[in-house]
This record gives sequence, structure tokens and C-alpha cells, in this order.
Amino acid sequence: MDIGIFREVIQKMEIPCLILEGNVVRFANSSAEDTLKRKLLGECIEEEILQSRAPFLEWRSFEVDRYRVYLGFDVSEVYRLKGELEKRKEFFATATHEIRSATNSILGYLALYVDGEIKLAHKEELAEKAYSVALKLSALVNDLLDYVRIEEGLRELKLEPLKVNTLLHAIVEDLKGYAFRKNVELNVSSVAEHLRIIGDKKAFCRVMRNVLDNAIKFTSMKEKGEKRVTVSFAEDEKGMSIRVEDTGIGIEPEKLSHLFKVFSSYSPEGTGLGLVISKKLVELMQGKISIHSAGPDQGTTVELWFRRAEK
Ligand SMILES: Nc1ncnc2c1ncn2[C@@H]1O[C@H](COP(=O)(O)OP(=O)(O)OP(=O)(O)O)[C@@H](O)[C@H]1O
Ligand SMILES: [Mg+2]
Repeated sequence: MDIGIFREVIQKMEIPCLILEGNVVRFANSSAEDTLKRKLLGECIEEEILQSRAPFLEWRSFEVDRYRVYLGFDVSEVYRLKGELEKRKEFFATATHEIRSATNSILGYLALYVDGEIKLAHKEELAEKAYSVALKLSALVNDLLDYVRIEEGLRELKLEPLKVNTLLHAIVEDLKGYAFRKNVELNVSSVAEHLRIIGDKKAFCRVMRNVLDNAIKFTSMKEKGEKRVTVSFAEDEKGMSIRVEDTGIGIEPEKLSHLFKVFSSYSPEGTGLGLVISKKLVELMQGKISIHSAGPDQGTTVELWFRRAEK
């Protein structure tokens, strides 16, 4: 093929391209990196150099006329998919591991239970332990299914105006007993009666429940000092923020940035998927969620923001 025609075709296709005559670069397509062009001018091109300069371009070289031509193919999508695949493999490996350990521990308790040598008082304790792990396993499986459904885009939300006052009132009423048993004071400021946000009822309740459950759970774990959870609200022009502040065990700075990553952290009672799912749901409702803590024993604050529905 004539090199002139070749150039025209390549230029139209916008493929990064370098054409060498001896070791002089005669032509490089505009989309090839500038630094790459500069670096290579007058130098002998090594494919490794090309690769390290533009890692998402895979270079193929061949002869056209008496020229050596390098074409760079964009493989960034391949890299992205490889990354996704790795993440999924890791997710399923961890999920399977979690399910297997819970199942093994239930089996372990039940094996002891059916052992004829065990005394009656002990049996009750074993049954309770097996039951509590079974509850955790069931919560884990439900969370995993939810997470996968959200990730796959299968969780369709019905966005509609929601009366925050009514919904929060019901959730708080439900959690009052739990807070009381855990010795945590639960204070909720009043929300304007008329206030409506845009959200999906089930998703909103799920998020609020998890955030409040965390606040109560991790405050009750504090050894001394006051144990209080305060929920407050603020309106702005476009939305409404909900602030859940606790005086609990707080969070180490290095742990903070991992809390919204799957399986990055979990409490002995939980699955560690609560915040991950909450963030995904909040984002599907076009809201925001963030978590702050000054450090261990300094309490934690979760801030949520939702769009306001037109009046
Ligand atoms: N209010 C809080 N105070 C201290 N740590 C918190 C608080 N909220 C979340 N965390 C930390 O973030 C982690 C992740 O929270 P998340 O709700 O995802 O998991 P979990 O509560 O352990 O389990 P699950 O919600 O699935 O029952 C927790 O294990 C805990 O380490
Ligand atoms: Mg939780």
C-alpha cells in the first residue's frame, strides 16, 4: 500500500500511529500523546517504551512501503473489564467464605447439641448460639442478594415525594426499645410537618434504619461516658439534610475511607454491607451520604442529604 493513502486512512480512523523512516518519526497521529512524540523523536523505538508511555495503548508494528508503522490500539476497555472481573471474583470469594464460616459454626453448635454427653443447661446455650449465627447468616444472604441486585441495576426504585416526618417517626418508634435495652438515649428533633423529599419509601427506610442502628449499636459499645444519639434536620433551597450524631466508639481515621467499600469492615454482629448498600440506595435517590469521626471514642456523625419535592 502507498504510504500516503495509508496515512489518510489512519488519520480518519483516529488511531494513534507512528511512522518511522530509519529511526526518525515522520508522522504521528494527533491523538498520540505529545510527550510520547517528543520522547520518541530521533530515538530508536522500543515497544516497551511505547507501552510504558501509554499503558492503555497496545502497539502493533508492521511494514508499509519502506516504513515501519506503529499502530496503538486502545485497550482501556479491556483493562476496565479485567478490573471489574477481578473485583467480582474477590467479592464472590469473600461472600462464599463468610457463608461457609457461618454454616460451619451452626453445624458445630448443632453437632455438640446432639451429642448425648451434653447437659441440658448447656444445650440451651448451644441452641441460642446456633440461632444467633443463623440470624446473621440470613441477614448476610439478604444483604448479598440486595447488593448484587443493586450492582446489576435490577433494583428499580420508585421515586416519589416522601413525608419525612411520618417515615422517621415510625422508624424511631421501632428503634426506641432497642436503644433503651442498649442503654442509649435517642433524641430526635422535630421535622417540619410539610417537608417532603424525593425518594423511594423502602430504600429511604432501609438507609435510615441502618444509619440509626449503627449509631445505637456503636454507641452502646462505648465503655464509659454518655451514650447519646441525636437526629437533627436542616432545610436548604434544594433539599434537606439529616444529621445522625452519636457519642459512641468513633472510627479510626484510616478506617473511614474504607467504610463504603464492600466487606471492608464489619462488626461482630453485622455483615458490613449496611453502609455500602445505604450509599448505593442514597445515590439512586440522587442524594448524598458521608460519615465523619474525629477518632476512637470521639463519636461519629453521618450526614445525609435528599432532594426536596416541589410543594
Ligand atoms: N455510628 C458509628 N460509629 C462507629 N462506627 C461505625 C458507625 N457507623 C458505622 N461504623 C463502622 O462502619 C462499619 C460498617 O458499617 P455497616 O453498617 O456497613 O456494617 P455493620 O453495621 O457492621 O453491619 P450491618 O449493617 O450489615 O449489620 C461498621 O462495622 C463500623 O466499624
Ligand atoms: Mg450497620
